[in-house]
Amino acid sequence: MTSPVLAGARVLLGVSGGIAAYKAADLVRRLREAGAEVRVVLTESAARFVTALTFQALSGQPVRSSLWDEAAEAAMGHIELARWADEILVAPASADVLARLAHGQANDLLTTVVLASTAPLSVAPAMNHQMWTHAATRANVETLRARGVRVFGPASGAQACGETGEGRLLEPLDLIAELAAARGPRPLAGLRVLVSAGPTFEDIDPVRFIGNRSSGRMGFAIAEAAVAFGAEVELVAGPVALPTPTGVRRRDVRSAREMREAVLTAVPSSDIFVSAAAVGDYRPAEPSALKLKKTGASRALELVQNPDILAEVGRLAPRPLLVGFAAETDDLELHARDKLERKGLDLIAANRVGENLGFECAENALLLLWPGGREELAQADKRVLARALLQRVAARYRETRGATP
Ligand code: CTP
Repeated sequence: MTSPVLAGARVLLGVSGGIAAYKAADLVRRLREAGAEVRVVLTESAARFVTALTFQALSGQPVRSSLWDEAAEAAMGHIELARWADEILVAPASADVLARLAHGQANDLLTTVVLASTAPLSVAPAMNHQMWTHAATRANVETLRARGVRVFGPASGAQACGETGEGRLLEPLDLIAELAAARGPRPLAGLRVLVSAGPTFEDIDPVRFIGNRSSGRMGFAIAEAAVAFGAEVELVAGPVALPTPTGVRRRDVRSAREMREAVLTAVPSSDIFVSAAAVGDYRPAEPSALKLKKTGASRALELVQNPDILAEVGRLAPRPLLVGFAAETDDLELHARDKLERKGLDLIAANRVGENLGFECAENALLLLWPGGREELAQADKRVLARALLQRVAARYRETRGATP
């Protein structure tokens, strides 16, 4: 399907070595279907996984993989390619190519073209999950992000090596959606978005607490996507072990009451509040200053209710556009619609928990409900879902508050 923001785009697709290189063939087809012109550069290791001929047939253009191609380089082919491109997408981007790009190396055709080009660069990492989480790769990715390079994915799931984890190449259509979003209009430009994310911890004594299984990933993905959509973003994060997305202002909190303080402080200067945190509904009535000792008998813990932060913001006037989450095990739509109305929300994102979705995983599926409307977002990587959710949030903002400033 033709995409308005990709039609006519000149996309240089860099394919690096890795088993996911085969998916790049389908990506070429899909990019062309979206209306883009595509030229492909293979790294030498990519050429061991896939053939230039495949990409030549699919792109309808000669494919290059060496700096030392005398015929092409007689006309300074690498500079011509660098000038031709108005987008460079490296997919799959191996750990090695990320390292070389991060360090500005120019030791093969692809890295040389990237250095010589002013086109925006996007990378779609794909590698074994240990390689992806290695401190060296993390540092390289941070360096690239800090330089404005867009990082698409990776997704999580079964890997070619037989292991499971984060490091799969995003699916071709998801990559195209990411690229289109990155090039397209910035639907939240000029808006201030407040996001809460993660669990809350309620102390029982100095060593024990009541928490929940929220990983914070959905909220962090929303904060990241809101920056990409042009918003100024503040993130109030419960206790999670996630890096701060580039461009996001972050405030760390622990308990529901600390989260309430931080959210209420930020609300007056926010146009949109996305409450993605899994706020604990109860806390111990009297946390003990000293570690509780076992007594040999059973013990009861008295709990008191925490403030409902979202409902409280819903009662303010004026108030930001309110987006809530509902995690449900049963009667998803019924419970979520009830919460939408009860808390006075402009939109609710409902997800079923369990079945490897929702908490503690990289993928999710969402049912969006708003007064008079609904939209289902099929199972996908949380970062892909975050963009789709924010598209809808931006539309709700325009419907209810008029044009964006
Ligand atoms: N929330 C909040 N403060 C709380 C509890 C929840 O701000 N103390 C927000 C969450 O961030 C989420 C939404 O409210 O956006 C839904 O939370 P949930 O606890 O599922 O709603 P409840 O009305 O408490 O419903 P339930 O009866 O399922 O507990």
